[in-house]
Amino acid sequence: MTLDARILGIETSCDETAAAVVDSRGAAHASVISSQLDIHSLYGGVVPELASREHLRNIVPVVRQALQEADCAYRDLAAVAVTAGPGLAGALLVGITYAKGISFAAGIPLIGVNHLEGHIHAVLLDASREPQEIEFPALALIVSGGHTHLYLAERGEDGLRYHLLARTRDDAIGEAYDKVAVTLGFGYPGGPVIDKLAAYGAPAKEPFTIPSMKGNPLDFSFSGYKTAAIRWREARSLDGEIQARRELRERCGAPTLEQWLEVTPQETLDLLASFQRTAVDNIEANCRAALAQTGARSLIVSGGVSCNSALRARFRDPRFPVPAWFPEPHLSTDNAVMIAAAAFPRLARKEFSGYSLNPQPGMRLEAE
Ligand code: KG4
Ligand code: ZN
Repeated sequence: MTLDARILGIETSCDETAAAVVDSRGAAHASVISSQLDIHSLYGGVVPELASREHLRNIVPVVRQALQEADCAYRDLAAVAVTAGPGLAGALLVGITYAKGISFAAGIPLIGVNHLEGHIHAVLLDASREPQEIEFPALALIVSGGHTHLYLAERGEDGLRYHLLARTRDDAIGEAYDKVAVTLGFGYPGGPVIDKLAAYGAPAKEPFTIPSMKGNPLDFSFSGYKTAAIRWREARSLDGEIQARRELRERCGAPTLEQWLEVTPQETLDLLASFQRTAVDNIEANCRAALAQTGARSLIVSGGVSCNSALRARFRDPRFPVPAWFPEPHLSTDNAVMIAAAAFPRLARKEFSGYSLNPQPGMRLEAE
């Protein structure tokens, strides 16, 4: 592998069609993301059939744009990397099929990448530019709309090895945020809006309970307090304020904080603050317990919910026992830079995928 070997990364596991060109030093020469948010927000969540159709529509122009921006031809690439799973089968299939075509036509290796490993590499990419290196073993927490997983990541001879410590038994954390937001008329995706508005509410107002988990106490469950938030809304006549928020979204598309505050009474702000406080307490408590159990020396946090300001503040608090590392916000949500970055160790080991590579919707990261 030459020092400036470049990999084309392709990501289509959920609702973003993304392509990026990254070099072996971790520099992104191009990163193009075509979001389908406008389409799925009409339905309050990702509709798998629509996602596949949009990926089909977008994949060619997105990859072409990434190569143009990087001033790169197929023959300049050392490999093409693509998300193999986990994700939506039909959505993954679009990226994988296109990547196979590029690999075959250009005569370059194909590398199937685990999306979750991609999220972890989004942090390693940034951290490589910090003077202080991430210390291993590390806890790796992935919190997004589709995943809530906690791993122990250890350095092995052939790269990082992962052991699953905990996962959600029901909703992913981002999914719980999104459902609460949709119920209250804030639209989809709701995480960023709840995050901003929660700062204006009283976090102890609604007493949500963090469930204690039988079996593995490190596991997560968000559906209990998500449902409690939905019941809270059903027990009140909030039709007027919810309608006002729907109209605001229709009028503005992306309302400002001030506009949201005008149509959100204090009682609702308190509910959002209480929901967010419970979620962050829950995640912090489980991470602290996992640190005590494993002796891990740092914490890596990635996925869309790692943008959450309360979560970042909690883990960056000097009282948190180990250093916490986050990706830059633009690398927190789904992107292809992280997929290309995660492929470099495989390129170095010449660990290539064959053309039998298929979508693996339930792909696991941990060693079997
Ligand atoms: O990683 P991502 O782009 O896609 C998945 O793989 O799911 O994550 C999207 C999720 C959505 O559920 C969104 O509501 C949530 O991340 N999210 C947030 C914040 N920003 C995005 N949740 C809470 N606070 C935020 N600031
Ligand atoms: Zn993701």
